Amino acid sequence: MNILVTGGAGYIGSHTCVELLKNNHSIIIADNLCNSKIETLDRIKQISNKELTFYQIDVTDASAVESIFSSHQIDGVIHFAGLKAVGESVSKPLEYYYNNIVSTMILAKACITYKVNKFVFSSSATVYGENKVPFVETMDLLPTTNPYGETKAMSERILRDAAKANPGFSVSLLRYFNPVGAHESGLIGEAPNGIPNNLMPYVTQVAKGKLEKLRVFGNDYPTVDGTGVRDYIHVVDLAEGHVVAIEKLTEGVHIYNLGTGQGTSVLQLLQAFQEANNIKIPYDIVDRRSGDIAICYADASKAERDLGWKAKRGVNEMCRDAWRFEKGYDEEQ
Ligand code: NAD
Ligand code: UD1
Repeated sequence: MNILVTGGAGYIGSHTCVELLKNNHSIIIADNLCNSKIETLDRIKQISNKELTFYQIDVTDASAVESIFSSHQIDGVIHFAGLKAVGESVSKPLEYYYNNIVSTMILAKACITYKVNKFVFSSSATVYGENKVPFVETMDLLPTTNPYGETKAMSERILRDAAKANPGFSVSLLRYFNPVGAHESGLIGEAPNGIPNNLMPYVTQVAKGKLEKLRVFGNDYPTVDGTGVRDYIHVVDLAEGHVVAIEKLTEGVHIYNLGTGQGTSVLQLLQAFQEANNIKIPYDIVDRRSGDIAICYADASKAERDLGWKAKRGVNEMCRDAWRFEKGYDEEQ
């Protein structure tokens, strides 16, 4: 297939591009590089030994999007482009609503106009809010505590309605759990701007000596050791999930959790990181972070049943690969 990948220079997008190329798909990347680097494109080519087409455009720019659709025969779209910092979405709600929702509408409209019938969307487990774990695709969505989460719930709704009104336009809504790790080459991975908000990049920066100590947000949750539990998924497993999701997309709207189904606490992840990499991570226990839930993990059985996809990589591999990327990344700065 010839696949348009928006946000293909970003963390999850770049790993997915590698897997798409590996599976003999052609890719066109549309990215404005607001949270990624142009060098990533060379890395994707280097790993896969294949070529790709790149447009540096903003996908909220309808005419720029239109010009890509009018000049290429596109079979499907994977829409990663979006802003994703939860805290920032609270202070800049309009930027988040505009970027994440307008982009989805413009791309869906272009697909319908140009009869591009396959659309895969990056959603998030955050749409489940405080449902009971494990989260199952059939659950009612609960309000999230921030505009970022709302943009995911609204984009899902928009795509669902667009598919209902336009038979043939088929949509896969992929709800990611906690993507971590990096490609085993160490060439691409997660490189957040500034001080990381998420656990794994924070830990790798402590390991590197860039940050002094991890702050563990709360040890009084009703969990195995009192710290928050999440379903960490290796980014390459997640990328492979996108390849099957677009290859096997059938008419209608399909929702899939992409997680492992396993919960890991903050202290368990820390322990795994220390053992996998033989590095000590100093930490302090501090207050809970506002907006955090105690436990989040997937019922990942639907993706296995329908798509034959299952996450294969464990927490040790996630820790090892995340650290390998961080080491290499810093050496180049
Ligand atoms: P990322 O920031 O690394 O990648 C997003 C890419 O989109 C970046 O390259 C950025 O430059 C680009 N982009 C943003 N707005 C754009 C626009 N208007 N036009 C063109 N390009 C634009 O993020 P990621 O972690 O790879 O996440 C990809 C998608 O998955 C996002 O939609 C995110 O909300 C979603 N998601 C991520 C996580 C996670 O933990 N990383 C979890 C759930 C869902
Ligand atoms: C965050 C987002 C969520 C998003 C998800 C995946 C928030 C409030 N939520 O979720 O919307 O879908 O990322 O991108 O940002 N932790 C520490 N110390 C740290 C960082 C994290 O103890 O420095 C703990 C957290 O309290 C949590 C766990 O580690 O228990 C994972 O945190 P994080 O990586 O930020 O992901 P989520 O909170 O699941």
